[in-house]
Amino acid sequence: MSRVRGKRVPVAVAGQAPAPPAEIRPGQSIELLKELHILTRDGKLNQDSRRKLKQVYHLYGFIEPLLDETLAARGDLTLVDHGAGKSYLGFILYDLFLKERAVGHVHGIETRAELVARSQALAERLGFGRMRFLNLPVLESIASRELPDPVDIVTALHACDTATDDAIRFALARDARHIVLVPCCQAEVAATLRQHKQTALARGALAELWRHPIHTREFGSLVTNVLRCLLLESHGYQVNVTELIGWEHSMKNELIIASRRGPPRGNARARQEEILGALGLEDLRARFVY
Ligand SMILES: C[S@@+](CC[C@H](N)C(=O)[O-])C[C@H]1O[C@@H](n2cnc3c(N)ncnc32)[C@H](O)[C@@H]1O
Repeated sequence: MSRVRGKRVPVAVAGQAPAPPAEIRPGQSIELLKELHILTRDGKLNQDSRRKLKQVYHLYGFIEPLLDETLAARGDLTLVDHGAGKSYLGFILYDLFLKERAVGHVHGIETRAELVARSQALAERLGFGRMRFLNLPVLESIASRELPDPVDIVTALHACDTATDDAIRFALARDARHIVLVPCCQAEVAATLRQHKQTALARGALAELWRHPIHTREFGSLVTNVLRCLLLESHGYQVNVTELIGWEHSMKNELIIASRRGPPRGNARARQEEILGALGLEDLRARFVY
């Protein structure tokens, strides 16, 4: 490393591959970062990928303590990532946390067969031997014998629409210690609000909150996440909701982290019922109250 105007810059040594950019942590797989388009083909960061890397580290900062806690408590860990897509989250977690350890498994659940095959091939190429990918819908994975017991950590990053709800169902069925969700757009609540809008407007002023179409969508999304948090609390999880800073390119940057802590919050279920009743969402009871 040398310094140019106070900045640390990597030095290329003649005959060797150029040193990775300073932001790359020691031991990180350069091949993986290229596959994820965080590094360019010639091993550099551009403005976009520098931002992407910052986001990845930011998210990792939330998940690393959960991995640490699980390993300390159990001496092993199983993480299941739902709606994995290209599995960049699973790969980054494996690369940064599990690669140098002898324990810990990551399972990616994804309905698109070509992405599953691609991730499996990449894991083999990188020698990430404790990663598995299943071509299954989230709901079917609940009963899958291909997933071990226990499952410690469940993640779902922008899993489409109700796949986040299915991931919650999975996590509750498997009694996961930690659940990390970045919900995607969920259209179901907004559709139900839309369906009963005229009745709600006739009933009172509250319906002004979702009268305009853009508000119907945004309010629907907010109500969905509130009902999800209450569901988790009704099962004894402590819930933190925060923002995934740096995720400006996405409208969906709400991060929900739930950790199993003990007795359910007493009024969580009653509050869900009250919200469903007040907003005319009783049709969705089975989705959120169980
Ligand atoms: C927007 S992508 C997000 C991918 C990845 N988690 C990320 O953040 O880069 C959502 C992924 O979820 C998958 N998906 C949607 N519904 C699913 C379901 N019910 N079960 C499993 N995968 C699902 C889609 O095929 C898609 O690859």
